[in-house]
Amino acid sequence: MFQIVEARFLAPEVKLFRIQAPRIARKRQAGQFIILRVHDQGERIPLTIADSDPDDGTITIIAQGIGKTTKLLNTMETGDVIRDVVGPLGMPSEVEKFGTAVIIGGGVGAAIAYPTAVAMKQAGNQVISIIGARTEELVILEDEIEATSDRTHIMTDDGSHGEQGFVTDKLQQLVDDGLTINYVLAIGPVPMMRAVAAVTKPHGIKTIVSLNSIMVDGTGMCGGCRVTVGGESKFACVDGPEFDAHEVDFDVLTQRNAMYRDTEAAALVKFEADEKRDRTLVEDNCRLLAQAVLREGN
Ligand code: NAD
Ligand code: FES
Repeated sequence: MFQIVEARFLAPEVKLFRIQAPRIARKRQAGQFIILRVHDQGERIPLTIADSDPDDGTITIIAQGIGKTTKLLNTMETGDVIRDVVGPLGMPSEVEKFGTAVIIGGGVGAAIAYPTAVAMKQAGNQVISIIGARTEELVILEDEIEATSDRTHIMTDDGSHGEQGFVTDKLQQLVDDGLTINYVLAIGPVPMMRAVAAVTKPHGIKTIVSLNSIMVDGTGMCGGCRVTVGGESKFACVDGPEFDAHEVDFDVLTQRNAMYRDTEAAALVKFEADEKRDRTLVEDNCRLLAQAVLREGN
């Protein structure tokens, strides 16, 4: 059982949770993720660890409420209890001194790119961050990313904050200006990651993407997260989630991510019709935790 010690919205439908998980907080490295189950009948969902504090034993995750489980998670508040949190999972980001590292976060992908931006800065790189969002209120972690970057560019689709355009417009401009770029990390929607790869490939710039394929067990056993990289099958949960963007087959990723779209839509409709039932299951967690604490005390 994992207690939420802080829960707050960063943007509409995007919520930050700080969760008591001391063992994970001690072990995790940038780029790794957890799999959680909100209650004991819930599905497992992967979420990247945005931050951790080994001293107070907490990890930070940021969830975008788009499906049934993320919407249920986003109803949870400080003091609520999450049934299971497993991790840290996946391979850590490859962090070394590359030179100039451009870190790109599209929408909620900024939360996933942020820990790697911190690690790249600590490794002695010049860090240039590009954050993109549809509109100003969807820009997240701007202050935190600015604090760890030598330069930060904000791009909004509607021009309501920063400059108007996609993250790839800014990246293309940096390339055209002749900036030497040694490393690019791009995390966000699949079309964005594909577009970033198309900008950097002709220039041979090392480019890494984090793949959000469907995950079930997170241990390489179920095959749910299979992706094609360099013509070979890989499992995002154990071989990734980060891969060479120029080797990723984005068509396969798009197809596999769409496989359960109808089931997910049906689950969401059911959840919205009976949100109270799922909240009751969440409240059971709190009761079970209280009983366990009492038992330990006796
Ligand atoms: P969004 O659709 O609002 O896009 C965010 C930004 O990405 C845009 O403002 C733009 O700058 C850039 N972008 C989008 N499409 C682009 C394109 N075709 N070419 C160039 N740039 C483009 O983002 P959102 O709503 O926050 O993202 C939601 C999506 O991100 C979901 O589909 C979710 O599954 C995915 N996601 C991916 C990861 C990951 O690990 N890769 C993590 C979380 C979420
Ligand atoms: Fe099952 Fe990766 S989630 S193999």
